[in-house]
Amino acid sequence: MNLSHVTTLNGLHDAIRAFQGCTLKTGATRTVIGDGNPHAGIVLIGEAPGAEEDKQGIPFVGRSGKLLDQMLEAIGLSRQKVYITNTVFWRPPDNRTPTPAEVASCRPFLDKHLSLLAPKLVLLVGGTAAKTVLNTDVGIGKLRRQWHMLENPYLNTPIPALPTFHPAYLLRNPPAKKDAWEDLKMFRDRVVEAGLLQLETKESAA
Ligand code: URA
Repeated sequence: MNLSHVTTLNGLHDAIRAFQGCTLKTGATRTVIGDGNPHAGIVLIGEAPGAEEDKQGIPFVGRSGKLLDQMLEAIGLSRQKVYITNTVFWRPPDNRTPTPAEVASCRPFLDKHLSLLAPKLVLLVGGTAAKTVLNTDVGIGKLRRQWHMLENPYLNTPIPALPTFHPAYLLRNPPAKKDAWEDLKMFRDRVVEAGLLQLETKESAA
């Protein structure tokens, strides 16, 4: 797919909306592209829109989204301080995992999206996002706790990306929240190091 004519986020949104190459589109109500601050320097990539996202056209607004908001808040971030997108732009039927072919059909848009957003850091939210974006069969249990360099065909330098558990998994499996917290702290440290978040000291808060 040639996206060289796409040079702005609006142009990319138009190209995604016009795209007929992903079979998920036919079963979905809305196209769900992104939310948050495109200038934040931080991008979160989730799996796929669910029922609520399909209704509202905004990523991570259902139950998982509420937990994701709390996870962000716990490390001093918020939706306004990051940009959120998914591996596919349309809800899979019955919220099933998107197939490799469905993810692959949307991948050129994700690559272009990342090149336009030019984030300094990426958080890969969940096993599907981590595996498909990093192009590996290794499971999330092994991928998390370490930074991976995400190559992008449009960028000269790869983007550091940290995989973590999906909030839907954490809702089903609350004991894993302590592991997710370790990932989030790792992410926060790098966010601070990159100058993307000033930690409030007692003096500056006073
Ligand atoms: N889960 C995801 O991975 N993405 C969403 O947008 C909503 C739920």
